[in-house]
Amino acid sequence: MHSQETKPILEVNDLCVVFKTEAGRATILDKVSFKLQKNKTLGIVGESGSGKTITALSVLNLIPSPPLDSMSGEIRFQGENLLTFTKSQLRKVRGNRIAYIFQEPMTALNPVLTIGDQIVEMIRAHNSISKKEARDKAVHLLTEVGITSPIQRLKNYPHEISGGMRQRAMIAIALSCDPDILIADEPTTALDVTIQAQVLDLFKYLIESRGMSIIFVTHDLGVIAEIADDILVLQAGKTIEYDSIDKVFHDPQHPYTQKLLSLIKGGVA
Ligand SMILES: Nc1ncnc2c1ncn2[C@@H]1O[C@H](COP(=O)(O)OP(=O)(O)OP(=O)(O)O)[C@@H](O)[C@H]1O
Ligand SMILES: [Mg+2]
Repeated sequence: MHSQETKPILEVNDLCVVFKTEAGRATILDKVSFKLQKNKTLGIVGESGSGKTITALSVLNLIPSPPLDSMSGEIRFQGENLLTFTKSQLRKVRGNRIAYIFQEPMTALNPVLTIGDQIVEMIRAHNSISKKEARDKAVHLLTEVGITSPIQRLKNYPHEISGGMRQRAMIAIALSCDPDILIADEPTTALDVTIQAQVLDLFKYLIESRGMSIIFVTHDLGVIAEIADDILVLQAGKTIEYDSIDKVFHDPQHPYTQKLLSLIKGGVA
């Protein structure tokens, strides 16, 4: 049983994604389905190339064309199918109701704008508030994500701060519009192990304090064990396991999941 409750905040049904490349058409996602409940975290795992990022990008229709050829299925957010939304309808959802943290923090941050300007810009794009109010909110957000001396940090450019700090800044930007859903693609992967643990602790803190729904993409089952309620395991664009974390960790049904689990030493969950 998944952590079923009330109506899910996001429901993906039979999502298929087809790419058109020089080599021809390729099915990248094949009937992927999952539900995200309110205040719950869904972990998406799988080896490199299994379709984790494409699944995450699909939710907000962020896959560039090319290579995208077509998408089908349903992505129901609070009942409405996002696949039928126009670009401008989607823009209102993106960064506002659903925030996205990209796999590469350096490419997602604008190198020529200070951290402060980027957060203020994001806040003001979605709220009609003054620069001063947005700045105060930015300071508050940086404090919330554990950045010390936030007033100083607002003046820094992305290259002037450490990788862990950049990831915290990315999270602050994502939180700036109080999203209902946060999609985080490998938010800890590029970090050193100790910093990884700190950023993971930040996610745990945010889950408790904000009560958000999170899609957390990672290839690391150990990370999933610490943070997720439900788990979706992908392989070559197909769902091979989807259940509550307890069920999958204690009674994995698929040989692939069994193998993934056996790679985590010392036991988890
Ligand atoms: N721009 C692209 N052009 C062509 N194929 C692509 C492109 N981006 C992704 N793919 C293909 O889509 C499939 C799924 O890729 P995806 O990026 O979702 O994998 P992933 O699970 O996120 O991997 P990783 O753990 O390395 O981030 C792979 O087979 C990949 O080769
Ligand atoms: Mg990826």
